Amino acid sequence: MNIKNLCIAGATLFLLSCSSSKKENSQEEKIDKLIAQMTLDEKIGQMNQLTGLGLSDDMKNSIREGSVGSILNELDVKTINELQRIAVEESRLHIPLIFARDVIHGFRTIFPIPLGQAASWNPQVAEDGARIAAVEASAVGIRWVFAPMIDISRDPRWGRIAESCGEDPYLTSVMGVAMVKGFQGDSLSNPSSVAACAKHYAGYGFTESGKDYNTTWIPEELLRDVVLPPFEAAAKAGCATFMCSFNDINGVPSSGNRHLNVDILRNEWDYDGVLVSDWGSIEQMVQHGIAADLKDAALLAANAEVDVDMMGFAYVRHLKELIAEGKVSEKIVDEMVRNVLRLKFRLGLFDNPYAKEQESPFYTDDALLKAKNAAIESAVLLKNEKNVLPLKNVKTIAVVGALADAPADQLGTWIFDGEPSHSITPLAVLKKDAGDVKINYVQTLKYSRDKNKGDFAKALAAAKSSDVVLYFAGEEAILSGEAKCRADISLPGAQSDLLTELKKAGKPVVLVVMAGRPLTISKEVAEADAVLYAFHGGTMAGEALADLLFGKAVPSGKLPVTFPRMVGQIPTYYAHKNTGRPAENVQLIDDIPVGAGQFSIGATSYHLDAGDSPLFPFGYGLSYTTFAYSEPRLSATTLQKGGTLTVECDITNTGKVDAAEVAQLYIRDRVASLARPVRELKGFDKIQLKAGETKTVKFTLTDDQLAFWNADNAKRAEAGEFQVWVSADSQSGTAVSFEYK
Ligand code: BGC
Repeated sequence: MNIKNLCIAGATLFLLSCSSSKKENSQEEKIDKLIAQMTLDEKIGQMNQLTGLGLSDDMKNSIREGSVGSILNELDVKTINELQRIAVEESRLHIPLIFARDVIHGFRTIFPIPLGQAASWNPQVAEDGARIAAVEASAVGIRWVFAPMIDISRDPRWGRIAESCGEDPYLTSVMGVAMVKGFQGDSLSNPSSVAACAKHYAGYGFTESGKDYNTTWIPEELLRDVVLPPFEAAAKAGCATFMCSFNDINGVPSSGNRHLNVDILRNEWDYDGVLVSDWGSIEQMVQHGIAADLKDAALLAANAEVDVDMMGFAYVRHLKELIAEGKVSEKIVDEMVRNVLRLKFRLGLFDNPYAKEQESPFYTDDALLKAKNAAIESAVLLKNEKNVLPLKNVKTIAVVGALADAPADQLGTWIFDGEPSHSITPLAVLKKDAGDVKINYVQTLKYSRDKNKGDFAKALAAAKSSDVVLYFAGEEAILSGEAKCRADISLPGAQSDLLTELKKAGKPVVLVVMAGRPLTISKEVAEADAVLYAFHGGTMAGEALADLLFGKAVPSGKLPVTFPRMVGQIPTYYAHKNTGRPAENVQLIDDIPVGAGQFSIGATSYHLDAGDSPLFPFGYGLSYTTFAYSEPRLSATTLQKGGTLTVECDITNTGKVDAAEVAQLYIRDRVASLARPVRELKGFDKIQLKAGETKTVKFTLTDDQLAFWNADNAKRAEAGEFQVWVSADSQSGTAVSFEYK
C-alpha cells in the first residue's frame, strides 16, 4: 500500500469511526430518553428473561405489561413474530423483545462439537460454523445465541469439555473470537446476525473432580493467566453478551461476584454489553449457601451488576423492594437496563423487530460443504501403523460398532434443533460409495453402553471374511454435555472387549472414535492398527470420515486437549509447572524390585503406574505424510521492552501426499518471580504443503505474549531468558533462547 492509499484508508477509517461513534451517541441519547420514561417495573422487566410458553395468555400479558425483556427457547417464527408484535405494538413503551437460544455448534446444520472444531486449529472452521448457525437461527427470529463456550478445561471427566475449545487459553481465545465474528457478522444490526454470548464467566471448567456445577478454587494467577484470557479476547472482539457461570469461585458464585463482574469485566475491560445469569444461577445462590433467600440472592446479583436474570425470578419478585429499602441503587439498575436496551439497539430491533418468514434456509449446499470440511479438519489421526490408512486395495470391509450408523449420536451434545434425519452416517456413505467393494456390516453393539456380547461371533466372522475392519466406537451423545460427567472415561459398555474380539481375525483394525471428550484408550490404541479420533462430527460426519478413510482428504487435526492414559492422571495438561523434582528415571510399578528400599527408585514427580507422560500430548496429530521442522531462527538474541522478535521455522512435507500441518509456537520463561509453565502456546499457523514442498512460518513475539500475572498482582513480562519452540505438538521440537530486556 502506498502513502496516498494509506492516507485514504486512514481518512475512511476516521470517518467510519466518527459516524459509528455518532451513531452510538444518538443511540445512547435514545436510551436515556427511554429510561427516563420507564417505570421501575418496566426497568425490572427488561432484566427478566423467561423461557418460551408459546402464545399463552400469561406470556402475552407479561409482554404487554413490559415485565419480560427477553425470551429463550421459543422457536416457531410465527409465534416469535406475534410475541414481538405484542411487545412493539401493545406494550406502553414499544420496546422489542430479544429471542435467545442455545445454538452451540449449529442450529439445523450441525458442525462438529466445539472441542472437535478446536482440533481443526483453523479459526475459519469456527467462524464458518458460527456464521451458518447465525443465518439458520436468525431465520426463525433468534437473535441471541448462548455461545461460544470458552471455558478452559483440563478435566475430561467434565461433560462440558465437549462444548469447550479444550485446555489452552490461546487456542481457545483464537477459536472463541472466530466464533464471535461468525455469529455477529459484519454488523449486529444485520438481520442475519445474532448476538454472541461468551460463557461461562468464569472458571466453570475448573470444577472439582470434573463434576458439573461443583466448586472451584482459582487463585488470581490462574484466573488471570488461564481462565480469563479467552473472555478478555471475546470482550475486545465485541462479543455482545457474557453469561455468568454456575460455580462458586473461592466461595463466591459468579452471579454474585463483584470482582469478576464489576472490577474486571466493567472496569478493567470497559465492557458495555449485557451480562446474563445462567439458568436460575441467581436463585441458586441460596443453595450455594451465600444467600438466605431469593431476595438476598437478588441483592447479591444486582450489586454484582448481573444485568439479566435468566429464569431465576429474583429480580421480578424482589428488586423493587430492595430499591425501596435503599439496598440497591436505582442508578445502578438504570445502567443495567441501559446495557439491555443498548443490545436491542445494536441488534437493530427497534427498527426491524420481525423475522422474515421465509422458505427454509436450512441445509444449503454451502452449509453442508462447510460442515463437511469442518468434520474433516476436526478429526485427529492418533495412530497409523504400517500406513493402514488411507485404505487401498480393499475388496471387502467389515463395518462394526454402535457409532457406525448412529445419526443422533454423531451430532453430539447441545443440538436441540439438529435433526438426525439429516445426518449422513459413515455406514450410509460407505454403502453408497462402495462400488465394487463389499461392505459387511454387523452393528454388534446397539449403543455405546451396550454390554450384550451376543453378536460378537458374527462380528468376528465378518472381520475374518474382510480385508480390513472399520470399528466405530465411542460415546453416545448423551454421555457428554451439561451434567454428563463421568468418573471413568474409558470406552463404555463392551466396546473395548469387542475390539479385542475383532483383533482375533488377524486383519487390520481401524478404530474410529466418536466421543464428546478424550477417553482413556491406552489399551485400545495398543490393539488397533490405526486410530482416528473424530469427536462428534455433526451432520456431515459420515462423508467427512469416508473421505479421510479413503484418502480423498488427509487428516490435519491436532489435539486441543491432553489425552490421559488413565483417570488418575487428571488434571494432566501440557502447560504444567516443572516442579522442584521433574520426572526422571521413571521406574514403573512392575519394574520395582521386591523389597526395594524407600529411595532406591529415585524421588521425582510421576505416578508409579502411569509414569509422567500422557497418552497423547496437546497439539498432537498425525497425517498421511510426514513433516520435518528446522530449528527455529530468531531475528535477534534479545527482545527489548516494547519491541518485537520474529521467529521463523522451515517446514518440509517429507512424504508423498499434499497435506496441511499446524505449526505451533511455544515459549518458556526460564526464571521468573513465580514458577512458570514448561511451555505455553503463543501462536500457530495451519499451512498447506505439497509433497516435497518447504514453507517458512513466521511468528512475531512481543512482550505482551511474555507477560503473566505476577506475585504483585500485575501483568508484566519479566527480564531474563526465554526458550522458544516451533513444533508439531507440545512435546517435540528444538528450543532456542533469547533474552528479554
Ligand atoms: C447452561 C447454559 C445455557 C443455559 C440456557 C444452562 O443450564 O449452563 O450454558 O446457555 O442453560 O439453556
